[in-house]
Amino acid sequence: MSITIKTAKEIEKMRVAGRLTGEVLDYIEPYVLPGVTTAELDRLCHDYMVDVQGTIPAPLHYAPPGYPPYPKSICASINHQVCHGVPNERALRKGDIVNLDITVIKDDYHGDSSRMFIVGAKTSILARRLCAVSYECMWHGIAAVGPHRRLGDIGHAIQRHAEGNGFSVVREFCGHGIGLGFHEEPQVLHYGEPGTGIELLPGMTFTIEPMINAGRAAVSELGDGWTIVTRDRSLSAQWEHTVLVTERGYEVLTLSAGAPPAPPFIV
Ligand code: MF3
Ligand code: CO
Ligand code: CO
Repeated sequence: MSITIKTAKEIEKMRVAGRLTGEVLDYIEPYVLPGVTTAELDRLCHDYMVDVQGTIPAPLHYAPPGYPPYPKSICASINHQVCHGVPNERALRKGDIVNLDITVIKDDYHGDSSRMFIVGAKTSILARRLCAVSYECMWHGIAAVGPHRRLGDIGHAIQRHAEGNGFSVVREFCGHGIGLGFHEEPQVLHYGEPGTGIELLPGMTFTIEPMINAGRAAVSELGDGWTIVTRDRSLSAQWEHTVLVTERGYEVLTLSAGAPPAPPFIV
C-alpha cells in the first residue's frame, strides 16, 4: 500500500478516533501512582476503551510479521524501556518515568498517542529534563509539518533538538502513516536531513513519536519479543501524537481536554 490521502469523511473519523485516544490518557493519568502495576493500568484502560468509549484497543493481539501477538491493550514502558513495554505485575515506584501508549480503533479508524508520566510527581533532574526535551522534540517535529514540506524536515527538527540537548534519537523505530491501518506508509523517521524524503500533502495522516535516550541511541529487544530497552540501560522517553497535514499546516488529531499544553515556541 502506498501513502493514502484521506477524504473529508475519513478525516472526520480520524478526528473522533484521535480525541478518544487522548481521552484514554486523560482518564488513566490519576491512576499512575506509586504501587500500581502496569497490568492494572492496562486493565483500567482496556475497560474504559471497551465499556465506556466503545473503542477497540488496537494493540490487543496485534501481530505484525515476525512478532508474536501482542498480549495486552496498551504499552507501558518504564525508565530504560524505550517502547512496546508489555504491562506486567511490577508495581510503579516513586521516581519512575513511564510512557503509556494508547491506540484505539473507532469506526474502523485508528488514533495513536502516548505521554510520559512521572510516578509520584518527583524524579531525578535528568529524568525530568529527558521528559521535557522529548516533549519539545515531538512538537518541533509537529511544527515542521505542512503542505510541500518534506518528511526529512520533521526528522531533522527532532534530531537537532535532541542532540543539541545532549540526548540521542532511537533509529530502529519511527512514526508511521495511520488510518484504516495501524501502521501505514510512510515511515516517519525521527532523524534526517531537511529537504529530503517525500513531499507532505494535505490529507496525509501520520504519527510523530520520537524515542529519546539519555545515553546512547542503541536499543535491544527483551525475550518477550516486544519490550525494547536501551542497550546501555540509560533512561528513555517518548511522546506521540497523530497529525493531519492541512492546506495551511497541520492539525493535531490526538489532542484532548487533559493533554499538556504545547510548548511556548508553538504559535
Ligand atoms: N502504539 C505503538 C506505536 O506508536 C505500537 C505498539 S504495537 C503493540 O506505533 F502491539 F505493541 F501495541
Ligand atoms: Co505510533
Ligand atoms: Co503509539
